[in-house]
Amino acid sequence: MTSEPRPPADPAPELFTWEFATDPYPAYAWLREHAPVHRTELPSGVRAWLVTRYADARQALADPRLSKNPAHHDEPAHAKGKTGIPGERKAELMTHLLNIDPPDHTRLRRLVSKAFTPRRVAEFAPRVQQLTDDLIAGFARKGSADLIHEFAFPLPIYAICDMLGVPSEDQDDFRDWAGMMIRHGGGPRGGVARSVKMMRGYLLELIHRKRASLPAEPAPGEDLISGLIRASDHGEHLTENEAAAMAFILLFAGFETTVNLIGNGTYALLTHPEQRTRLQQALAGGDHALLETGVEELLRYDGPVELATWRFATQPLTIGGQDIAPGDPVLVVLAAADRDPQRFADADTLDLARRDNQHLGYGHGIHYCLGAPLARLEGQTALANLLTRLPDLRLAVEPGELRWRGGLIMRGLRTLPVEFTPVP
Ligand code: HEM
Repeated sequence: MTSEPRPPADPAPELFTWEFATDPYPAYAWLREHAPVHRTELPSGVRAWLVTRYADARQALADPRLSKNPAHHDEPAHAKGKTGIPGERKAELMTHLLNIDPPDHTRLRRLVSKAFTPRRVAEFAPRVQQLTDDLIAGFARKGSADLIHEFAFPLPIYAICDMLGVPSEDQDDFRDWAGMMIRHGGGPRGGVARSVKMMRGYLLELIHRKRASLPAEPAPGEDLISGLIRASDHGEHLTENEAAAMAFILLFAGFETTVNLIGNGTYALLTHPEQRTRLQQALAGGDHALLETGVEELLRYDGPVELATWRFATQPLTIGGQDIAPGDPVLVVLAAADRDPQRFADADTLDLARRDNQHLGYGHGIHYCLGAPLARLEGQTALANLLTRLPDLRLAVEPGELRWRGGLIMRGLRTLPVEFTPVP
């Protein structure tokens, strides 16, 4: 059931301001109610449709008439290359899963999907536990930490580097490049462009090196880059550029998202003491069911991906009664859809035990998050260990003092200062 948009009593909220970055949910509630498919000018100057209702969002995410290929974008700024849409200017690392459509998408996704099945990812659990232990040991004695920089940020970068097969002596370079990307807010300019260039150079060189020493038969637990090289050498039509782009998107899609799952998730728990105590008690009793539903709920309630990545209409279509013209960019606002009261009971309430929770935090359709099993593993391991090892973990500042990144796609905290009783 969806209702007709209602004439607004209050004026349209301003989007993309500092207040909006801190708490976008009131503005999303207004849009869902009064302008559920709303054309707006983004900070980059590009005009795009924002889709905010759950039913429309779910439909749009799976609509084959909405292409992921930025070549379908029809805007004057496109010609000038100033849109800020990743992939419009540089082809090199950008022919990756999130910028392509079938049949290329189907072919490339098939090559990596085996590495991300829940079973394969479960084999990786001891490594994620080890990383978590080492990182917590790094700050536990201090009694205080910035959980973004000392925990949420390094955990996924080392995890993905390990999975890809980046040698441990090079992983700190990745940490630096990833740091540059995240500091500059995810846009394609400045530090981001530099770090993307360095990553590309490194990945191509690593592919060359691994190819030179690849054993004839795959060893058990072979790393992902070696698997990709094997696929390209066995006539699966994977070019070297595609292999580098694949490694890059795995890093890029799996990194800042997971940082923010851990950051936003911890913040939500620390500001909802009843829910947090419930989870702590369940974990103390060895019950992990609440951890599993809880991480899903944290994704729904304040997920890392505020807007799904770009889509472009390839033909005229209608979403939620609104006509969309070919070439128009469409942004599906996952954060708004996941608080839609038409779909979720008490949508603005954090309920870690929520069962009916088909949230869109990982997207939907053929681009559904490939790394979801890994993200779940990392999120569950990180939050469970924080809460059990540092039982009196608390915010070291008032919530109002925290700063949120104002990036377009991602939602996350710049820092998360916490205090706790030091653990020797
Ligand atoms: C796609 C969310 C972690 C790899 C997506 C999409 C979302 C998403 C919403 C779809 C975007 C769209 O349709 O425009 C998340 C969240 C994560 C997370 C919330 C963490 C909590 C990861 C991890 C990896 C990963 C750890 C891998 C290491 C990917 C890839 C795609 C993707 C490769 C593109 C899939 C395709 O186009 O077929 N993710 N992600 N993600 N994600 Fe994740």
